[in-house]
Amino acid sequence: MKIELSKNKVLFNNGSTIQEIHPFWLRERVDGEEFLDKGTQQRLFDPSSMNTEIFIKKANIREGFLEIDFNDGVNSKLEIGKIAQEFSKKDTVIKSIKKIKWDSTLSNIKNYKYSENFFESREMYDLLFSFYEYGFVIIKNVPTKDNFIVNFANSIGSVRRTNFGEHFNVRSKSNPNDLAYTTLSLSPHTDNPYRNPVPCIQLLHCIENEVKGGFSTLVDGYSVTEKLKNENSEYYKILSEVKVKFKFIDKSVILEDWSELIHLDENNEFKQVRFSPRLDYVPMLEKDKLDLFYKARKKLSELYNSKRNRIEFRLEPKDLMMMDNYRILHGRTKFDPNEGKRFLQGCYIDFDSTEGKFRHLKRKFKL
Ligand SMILES: [Fe+2]
Repeated sequence: MKIELSKNKVLFNNGSTIQEIHPFWLRERVDGEEFLDKGTQQRLFDPSSMNTEIFIKKANIREGFLEIDFNDGVNSKLEIGKIAQEFSKKDTVIKSIKKIKWDSTLSNIKNYKYSENFFESREMYDLLFSFYEYGFVIIKNVPTKDNFIVNFANSIGSVRRTNFGEHFNVRSKSNPNDLAYTTLSLSPHTDNPYRNPVPCIQLLHCIENEVKGGFSTLVDGYSVTEKLKNENSEYYKILSEVKVKFKFIDKSVILEDWSELIHLDENNEFKQVRFSPRLDYVPMLEKDKLDLFYKARKKLSELYNSKRNRIEFRLEPKDLMMMDNYRILHGRTKFDPNEGKRFLQGCYIDFDSTEGKFRHLKRKFKL
């Protein structure tokens, strides 16, 4: 990639094609003191209200900088490396971390340990890196007093409040409004598929655990759906095309949202899974199509519920699990409340929280 000049035009040469960079695009990026606030890196001028007839009167390239005189009297020195990086349109920070597929054979996952100044530490950077690779992480030794989970979440980003509150307490109770608050086993599911947007990251913190059962289970929705794509593309296709309605009904609210069980991005690549078969309603489609849909959903359910695809472990008091609710399905085995207490606390945060934290730590440690 190279920036070149030709008769007061700035050209971008990516090795195979050469194209002119619009002069206004460069003018928007002038960064002298009177144009850019050094602290916030925000513009002190409004390019949307400027005359768009901008052209370059003079341009030079010197020692990694592009020096330009514009026709409106403004001149600027722009860092060529920064321009080239922006031109590549790639998120070089988050998307460059490759997702690692896993199943029941996953072992030696590193656990992280909470300590003082944890949120500003190199350990936190490593933790987030691992989170983007595997879709979940476990942090040990996290204080359990006074709903510390809320502090934890707010030290990464901000808690995403839902109809279950700022945080929720997971223990069995009478008249539960969700099966989570019973002692029954919970098959793999994603949380709150009926919300728009669906909460991105779930934190689950074990406060007390005296029972023998109640193991936590996790399944990688990314690995499972990629497997389905390779083994039965017809099933994969219908599950990524048909939108179903997810619905939650409570005394004070009715939540609904429509989505595919496998939601793909604009490049037809994995973006999100939603799975909660007690809450989904497929629309009335042609019989043949529904026939295929039901077979495909059954296959997907078998894969999600297969022991070959899930890991199972016991959360000990002070363990905090952080999982990507768009990628990972979670569940638990049943337990006997007569054996003792089992008490977990949970809350949600958005993706931009962890992404912002990760970029900040990358900058801080010059990684
Ligand atoms: Fe859940």
